[in-house]
Amino acid sequence: MRFPHTRTRLVPSMSPSPSPIANVHYKRNEGTFGDRAGFAEHRRHVMGVIAGAANSTRPSLCVLGAGNGNDLDLDILANHFDEICLVDLDTAALQQCVSRLPQAIARRITLKAGVDLSGILPTLDALQAQRSISHDQISELSELAREFPPQIELGRWDVVVSTCLVSQLIDSVVMAVGAEHPGCSDLILSVRDGHLGGIAALTKDRGASILITDFVSSDTLPQLPQVPEAELQSLVHHAVSNRNFFTGLNPAVLLERMHDWSLRRNVAVKTHPAWRWTLGPRCFAVCAIEIAP
Ligand SMILES: C[S@@+](CC[C@H](N)C(=O)[O-])C[C@H]1O[C@@H](n2cnc3c(N)ncnc32)[C@H](O)[C@@H]1O
Repeated sequence: MRFPHTRTRLVPSMSPSPSPIANVHYKRNEGTFGDRAGFAEHRRHVMGVIAGAANSTRPSLCVLGAGNGNDLDLDILANHFDEICLVDLDTAALQQCVSRLPQAIARRITLKAGVDLSGILPTLDALQAQRSISHDQISELSELAREFPPQIELGRWDVVVSTCLVSQLIDSVVMAVGAEHPGCSDLILSVRDGHLGGIAALTKDRGASILITDFVSSDTLPQLPQVPEAELQSLVHHAVSNRNFFTGLNPAVLLERMHDWSLRRNVAVKTHPAWRWTLGPRCFAVCAIEIAP
């Protein structure tokens, strides 16, 4: 973790411990741990995307935001990859996720637990405790959020996949500063760009970077759960055209950002058709964007 840092005095340097925002994520994971069956359809899509990126020249995989691993079939992934690394803030979730596996497979999986992939969580906790947050604090934090935390040592991987994590990083920003704060959107965009840059930085030169993210839910797109499969792409397309998506997660913009990297790294961008992920009473539309040679 990069905090407390020494570059600034505007952002508070103390955060309550344990992290109240992290606790929200832990509670969410506790709530979904037993619901592996409910994740089946979502998992089938996530696995299709990851397995599609696997090949004999890409023996290693890093999953960011692996949590309970309900969206992964680790035993199948172990057939595709020699080395697998799971990264998450939530140590208990990662441990439970591998505890379900046969020993021989679990031994081949490295856990990077308790890692704050935003690098700004303690600062967000401190801001959440403040009565008012200044514009300068937001701009300073935005600047920090735009870089992938330099002190996180995760190495480089042939396939790097972020699984429905970026919406949670963004949610932490909203919990801390409030959606109504005039600087909230800027901070969200910085956190998003920092994450996209981080995925790229963790990927080996000939490797594949994959962003999987939920981008709109049935809260604002009530037709989502019921629409026939054949009409799903057109429904979400319309929603995006009407600016109905989570702040910072317009798939067209995500694609553009990933395309910028592809030009830099001389790789191609591939999008996967959107799918549905039902989680409790809500249904999410999920997209996957992949850059690879
Ligand atoms: C929606 S879940 C992803 C689903 C998960 N792959 C599963 O099947 O359980 C998002 C994950 O992001 C993790 N997370 C949230 N904020 C994080 C942060 N700042 N750094 C690292 N992981 C974080 C949560 O702990 C959670 O496991």
